[in-house]
Amino acid sequence: MHQRAIYLISSVAALAGLLFGFDTGVISGAILFINKDFQLNHIQTEVVVSAVLFGAFFSALVSGRLCDIHGRKNVIILTAITFIIGTLVCSFSPSVSGLIVGRLILGFAIGIASYAAPLYLAEISPKKIRGFLVTLNQLAITMGILFSYLVDFAFSYQQAWRLMLFVGIVPALLLLIGMFFLPESPRYLLLKRKIDEARQILAKIRPAGEVENEMSAIIHSQTHRSLRGSDLWSKKRFRAILMVGITLAVTQQVTGINTIIYYAPTIFQRAGFHTTNAILVTTLIGVVNVAFTLIALPLIDRIGRKTLLLVGVSGMCISLMVMGFAFTQNIVNDSLRYMLMASMMTYIACFAFSLGPMVFVILSEIFPLAIRGQGMSLAMSANWGANTIVALLFLSIIHQIGMTQTFYLFAVLCLLTLCFVFYFIPETKGVSLEQIERNIFAGVASRHLGQQGEVSVVE
Ligand code: BGC
Repeated sequence: MHQRAIYLISSVAALAGLLFGFDTGVISGAILFINKDFQLNHIQTEVVVSAVLFGAFFSALVSGRLCDIHGRKNVIILTAITFIIGTLVCSFSPSVSGLIVGRLILGFAIGIASYAAPLYLAEISPKKIRGFLVTLNQLAITMGILFSYLVDFAFSYQQAWRLMLFVGIVPALLLLIGMFFLPESPRYLLLKRKIDEARQILAKIRPAGEVENEMSAIIHSQTHRSLRGSDLWSKKRFRAILMVGITLAVTQQVTGINTIIYYAPTIFQRAGFHTTNAILVTTLIGVVNVAFTLIALPLIDRIGRKTLLLVGVSGMCISLMVMGFAFTQNIVNDSLRYMLMASMMTYIACFAFSLGPMVFVILSEIFPLAIRGQGMSLAMSANWGANTIVALLFLSIIHQIGMTQTFYLFAVLCLLTLCFVFYFIPETKGVSLEQIERNIFAGVASRHLGQQGEVSVVE
């Protein structure tokens, strides 16, 4: 019963991830027909595509306090409304400037959704399945991307780009309606001293025997309500965690994921694939992304975050080297083409069970409760900033140094990511958020934040 309630709540909240995936993915097909209708020049096309990324970067940067002040639930409701407005503005826009405004609004929604949803999921989860539940958000992102490819494909015959964009209204409405029935995070309520309300909610999502234990663990860990967002910069121990969070968030982008997600058809075309096959293979990439995120779900709380990260990023590194190698041979025959395809699939699979979900899982765990929203929003804003830069520069980098060197460059960045994960990322599997918080206040190094047991808090 409690288990069912928690899965239901998590699935509704994860719709925010679905919208994130859908609205970032749908433009890849729609832009072909928008181009035709509005006769866009090169720069306008780039602006229409990247407005979402700019919007997400900006909103994640400035909105962190909202979650800590107004609560996780209210912020997700606000996000759903913003998704609806953005979708309507885009689909009915009479001009290219209207479309850009609509894409910016969608970006604002995505930026907030990208940290508010995983944060909410982490806070309502029992510690044993926290990795699983937060990863539902990443699963929804991958499903949103795949869904957007299929929608683009379905409406491409009528060249109906407005309909392609309009479809996003359905998950946005479901999220809006669903969120009204979801409870606020009990951890946030306790932060605001709403003890009875928090107890009532915990009683619905935990077995009776666990409610009081969890209540007192959360209350005990809350000796630091007076923390402010500026403490993230001004106090050394928080600054260190913020740096680890920001670096982890950036590694997710600079190891190249969105060059594949956004540009796969371009890469396949350069390798000599026919356009239709290129689009078909891109859809296959979407399927592999969903499939391996599904495989990751039960493993995160069993094998652990750090081990999966180390294995996955090593796999990404090797795949990138193979991709680079395939292009040194100028892809002259089918076996090289298949080698390229297989290495791209392996790359996506490895991302899907490592850097994809783990960034959200770990970010939702390593900041103290009172400033969790602000810490996560800054880290995610860095993620969107890196995403924007990589997306804007990718084609120029290929032009300057060629395909092979570009993939080798991403492989080197994977190696650096491996070192960073090894030295700085903690293993937090099965550890309560309160234990992690106690470790932070005891001044424990980031790598050991997941250690169990009593620690003395250093003021
Ligand atoms: C990343 C996105 C990416 C997606 C692909 C997410 O974790 O944040 O930038 O497009 O994974 O599945």
